[in-house]
Amino acid sequence: MRTILNKSNNNPIGFFDSGVGGVTVYEQVKKLLPNENYIYFGDTKNMPYGEKTEEQLLIFADKIFKFLEEKGTKAVVMACNTTSAVVYEKLKNNYNFEIYPIIQSVSKSIAEMPIKRIGVFATQATINTHCYKKELQKYNSALEIIEIACPGWVKIVENGQENSNEAKQAVKEKMNEMMLLTPEKIILGCTHYPYLLNVLSEFAPANMFINPSIEFAQIIKKDLEQKGLLNKIENESFEKFYVSKSPENFKNAASIFYKIDSMPELILN
Ligand code: DGL
Repeated sequence: MRTILNKSNNNPIGFFDSGVGGVTVYEQVKKLLPNENYIYFGDTKNMPYGEKTEEQLLIFADKIFKFLEEKGTKAVVMACNTTSAVVYEKLKNNYNFEIYPIIQSVSKSIAEMPIKRIGVFATQATINTHCYKKELQKYNSALEIIEIACPGWVKIVENGQENSNEAKQAVKEKMNEMMLLTPEKIILGCTHYPYLLNVLSEFAPANMFINPSIEFAQIIKKDLEQKGLLNKIENESFEKFYVSKSPENFKNAASIFYKIDSMPELILN
């Protein structure tokens, strides 16, 4: 992470994801830092990212970073495991702001938990990189890691179908596979998956699931504080949501985690 110059502290913090997943991170950060200005971009036209190639993800992420750069963001939160896994390393030095990738940011604290065997649910693209496995084993080489891809889960969440039979069936199938391999904890390694916590908890105790957003928000706060980048002007904070498709659908789907006041703005990506 680089220290960025020429940004005033009231410049916004940017967030991006393929859709509503990143709202699970946004909600946590906003709670910790209510005085900040925020811009969120959900690339709903191009979701699900987990089924895209590296070439495609590089194009999507670069466009979003540039869009956020134009908006003057002082920092950008990659509230998306898939782009953190697939493109962060390639793009990280290209922009004039601080970048926080979710997987690389949270792995240390997860790896330091007193457990021997951990499961990871994530998108196919994230699992293909073994990014969680590599990052966790950097800090705890003895940790055994079970990686399972969950195609289909993101669309269920984007469609607001968390309580459907389809959701239950999809979760049951992957939970059966995971529980046979006896993990002590399971990382929800895609920011959309916490929307499915109710269904997941039908198959294992809720405290078995790690939602990395909670720790991630603390890490972001601490780092911005240490770098002196927090907003010092009080009572003037704004938030603005942008999407590349279906603003109303986004607003509705996000509402499980966060009530968005005004309609997100549709922009082409
Ligand atoms: N929510 C993102 C992630 O954390 C992207 C999911 C997707 O669009 O497939 O991986």
